[in-house]
Amino acid sequence: MGELDGRTALVTGGSRGIGRAVALRLAAEGALVAVHYGSDEEAAAETVGLIAKAGGRAFTVRARFGASDALDALFEGLTAGLAEHGEDGLDILVNNAGIHLIGSIEQITEEEFDRVMAINVRAPLFVTQRALPLLRDGGRIVNIASAAVRIGSSLQLGYTISKTALVALTAPLANELGHRGITVNTVNPGVILTDMTSQCTGVPEALAELESMTALGRIGLPEDVADVVGFLAGPQGRWVTGQTIDASGGTYLGPIPKR
Ligand SMILES: NC(=O)c1ccc[n+]([C@@H]2O[C@H](COP(=O)([O-])OP(=O)(O)OC[C@H]3O[C@@H](n4cnc5c(N)ncnc54)[C@H](OP(=O)(O)O)[C@@H]3O)[C@@H](O)[C@H]2O)c1
Repeated sequence: MGELDGRTALVTGGSRGIGRAVALRLAAEGALVAVHYGSDEEAAAETVGLIAKAGGRAFTVRARFGASDALDALFEGLTAGLAEHGEDGLDILVNNAGIHLIGSIEQITEEEFDRVMAINVRAPLFVTQRALPLLRDGGRIVNIASAAVRIGSSLQLGYTISKTALVALTAPLANELGHRGITVNTVNPGVILTDMTSQCTGVPEALAELESMTALGRIGLPEDVADVVGFLAGPQGRWVTGQTIDASGGTYLGPIPKR
């Protein structure tokens, strides 16, 4: 028996990276998982295949955030997939899909800013709004923001603004939904080995520098974040709500003493 047996979950951006690890983690505990993706159908199918191989249940849902029909496509696919498995409600929503944006105040364009806000803020806000009628009492909402909101890198200006706005959803929604036993929390990963960071982590010097600035002395893996999400989404996380939890292995906590 898994602790999420009989539960259902939607993981946006569940096809790759952190979202894939979250989807696998929730499915391993027994949840039926809707693996959302934007364009990489093969990766989404691979996630579902990995879940099935491990004895879990999952299906894919496509919706390209930023496109005008994205929400309709997401919720049509979600309700159809749930119905195929004899379900009509949602217990866990993980707003994970997102994009990165590099650029300083001199470099950022209005188009880039609109795009990062559309995918990293507008999409999770309105996905949550549309999910509310499906979300069962006692449910869970977990947003994936970023430790960038604490670090303040000038080269991640637009990204930092978008993730800070996502963090700002946490407390108001927790207050709104608490009377239904629904918790709302945000997880802020540090640098995690995924496609999003491969350009940087693929350079040995850059990787070594990142590791040297992290208290736990290594780069993060998707599973490091998925375990935190799993805790928040599971029964043991029932008394945590309205919180933003840094899952960065202690990146940029301050000067690390030389050993
Ligand atoms: N990796 C890190 O170091 C790190 C650190 C802090 C926070 N985060 C956050 O964690 C989340 C996941 O990051 P990741 O590193 O796992 O990213 P990733 O490997 O690049 O995967 C991104 C996921 O989001 C989906 N996605 C991207 N744009 C989309 C769009 N327009 N519409 C629909 N889906 C879209 C992708 O699906 P398709 O491929 O099908 O488009 C994919 O499933 C993001 O919100 C990111 O900002 C990551």
